[in-house]
Amino acid sequence: MNEISFHVNGKPITAEITPRTHLADYLRESLCLTGTHLGCEHGVCGACTLLVDGEPTRSCITYAVACAGRDIRSIEGLEHDVVMAALRTAFSAEHALQCGYCTPGMLVTARDIVRRLPDADDDRIRLELAGNLCRCTGYNGIVRAIRRVLDLRLNFETVPVDRVSEMAPIETATTKPILKIAKPIQPTGDGLRQTLSFAVPRDILWRALQDPALVASCVPGATILSIAQTHITGEMAVAFGPIQGKFNGSADVTYGDYEGTVLGEGQDKISKTKLTAKAFFSVTEADVSSSVLALTINYSLRGALAQFARGPVVQAFADEIAGIVGQTLQAKLSGSGTMIAPKRLSAFRLAGLVFWRWLRKLLNLAS
Ligand code: FES
Ligand code: FES
Repeated sequence: MNEISFHVNGKPITAEITPRTHLADYLRESLCLTGTHLGCEHGVCGACTLLVDGEPTRSCITYAVACAGRDIRSIEGLEHDVVMAALRTAFSAEHALQCGYCTPGMLVTARDIVRRLPDADDDRIRLELAGNLCRCTGYNGIVRAIRRVLDLRLNFETVPVDRVSEMAPIETATTKPILKIAKPIQPTGDGLRQTLSFAVPRDILWRALQDPALVASCVPGATILSIAQTHITGEMAVAFGPIQGKFNGSADVTYGDYEGTVLGEGQDKISKTKLTAKAFFSVTEADVSSSVLALTINYSLRGALAQFARGPVVQAFADEIAGIVGQTLQAKLSGSGTMIAPKRLSAFRLAGLVFWRWLRKLLNLAS
């Protein structure tokens, strides 16, 4: 986590943000500023365009931590902007939107065109819009709307000359991420913390944790293929809703004094997504008949499935797995039956958990 300070829509904000969190995800998930839309998440479609220090920027490929000290303005922060007000009216009058998904990014780009290129003709408007894709309108209405606002010759502060970007045929200023540091910040993984309470003495829980086959039998979707001392190979099937994968891999476990480390890596056969993870665990005594298992997991996902590794989804996923493992292990340790861990997680329950967290955050922000 890095502590970052910046301004968002005029408000000073200081927050702890993981290095790999993109600006769009941070705004949408932590500040509930959902006017910034995500389409391709590869810097291609322009749906996520917003302003950083007044420049249109792809927030899906801009790390939030790279925005320290910057002034970020999303579509919500342009409500009273004179050019944006004229563009909203013109978009409506010229039928420049249908589903509206591209519209926030399109409006931010259109505002930049109006401010930067007061004499732009229709060809130039179309060229400037090359970085914003709309799959509904056919662009004619959008071009007419921008033309209409340009023709109004609004009286606003023009963009200083030294901030005007030289026009390039396809790659305009809007396609560049703002990451201008020489060495990109490398993701170090996200940390997940879990605490599970067990109604068994600490020694019983500790012995159970040294039996990988027992632990694996409590994890939904996990299968152990081989165990050679502290080196374990196995596979883990992940399936909730549209997210499906089967990770084959290995892990090395080291045990200390009621604590240990697991270093693991695996790869999904189909999507080729690679997972590396490092987990620290410790067992403490709550009282003579109960104990607490504390887990900290740092992981990194690279590949197609990494797009689902958003904070709330991963946290809900981890909470759900931890809950199942805790219940199953407790049942096995207390001899109250061999509760079989389910093979699949409930997509509806996970969606509910994510929604519930989002709602709680929203209510906290509002209060
Ligand atoms: S979501 Fe497509 S460019 Fe950012
Ligand atoms: S209005 Fe639907 S994508 Fe542009």
